[in-house]
Amino acid sequence: MKRIAVFTSGGDAPGMNAHVRAVERVADKRGLEVIGIIGGYSGMIAGHFEVLDRIRTANILDRGGTILKTSRSPEFMEVEGRSKAADQLRKHGIDGIVACGGDGTFHGAHALWEEHRIPIVGTPGTIDNDLWGTDVTIGYDTAINTAAEAIDKIRDTADSHGRLFFIEVMGRHAGFIAMDVGIACGAEFIALPETLTDVEVLYQRIVAQGLDKRTIVIVGEGDELGGALELSRQIEGRYGLSSKVTILGHIQRGGSPTVSDRVLAARLGAAAVDALMEGATDVMIGLHKGDVVQVPLERTWEQRKKVPGYLVDLSTLLI
Ligand code: F6P
Repeated sequence: MKRIAVFTSGGDAPGMNAHVRAVERVADKRGLEVIGIIGGYSGMIAGHFEVLDRIRTANILDRGGTILKTSRSPEFMEVEGRSKAADQLRKHGIDGIVACGGDGTFHGAHALWEEHRIPIVGTPGTIDNDLWGTDVTIGYDTAINTAAEAIDKIRDTADSHGRLFFIEVMGRHAGFIAMDVGIACGAEFIALPETLTDVEVLYQRIVAQGLDKRTIVIVGEGDELGGALELSRQIEGRYGLSSKVTILGHIQRGGSPTVSDRVLAARLGAAAVDALMEGATDVMIGLHKGDVVQVPLERTWEQRKKVPGYLVDLSTLLI
């Protein structure tokens, strides 16, 4: 193995730059050349490749976003798109790839390996923390801290006015962000995609808190009833209670990564390079109980990572 590539894909996550830097540094130490693919799978198809070196990856460790850019590529979902990408990879003499992203990225990486036998390892980079096989994903810690900081601020004003707030956090299919920030910020109710949300129970919780008191309801965007707007509408429609709605949105994806995310990004980046050199492919490099592990890519989406039941129980005890 002489030359490897690294790219970031799907929703960006804080820590992706620290990860790219780690891949470049460690690969260099191992005598490998590193190519950055610009723009995720779209850039792979288009042949947007760039040599990465120490200078290019300097001073990016603390930056949010991804210097390699990212995309969600419909073209790569097609066999033809993947063939074009494989041609580009062969043309550029790529012997192995580190793909940092979420489950869409991993589906693509798996297909590329199956169809073209180009060695590829995935690293978990998503704020959603929803990949089975890793305790935590790159970007998650920063995202929950960003969200918690914003929610604390909203609580100040909610408390001053005695208002009911519905605050929506990201997590398309998973409620990890909602659960953690709900507990961390003392929410009165947490609506998750993983649990059924009962509007009557929610209303009773609001009443129990006191209608003249501040009430914070955290809503994971993937909740089966809809987001924060929908829940607020239902509470108003059924019980005549008005509320304020804040959708935190993409603020959760930006910002300088926390120390925890930087270290995780570095560990997984280093392990990904070594895994490729040892012949690993079609696996995710994740973290399990503090140790770096390899998990077949398919298992990361075949199994569903669940918000721990003990946190669900704890959140109700803390109200
Ligand atoms: O996958 C990360 C994530 O931020 C989800 O939480 C969210 O649903 C989605 O990406 C939003 O994606 P986009 O920025 O492409 O709209």
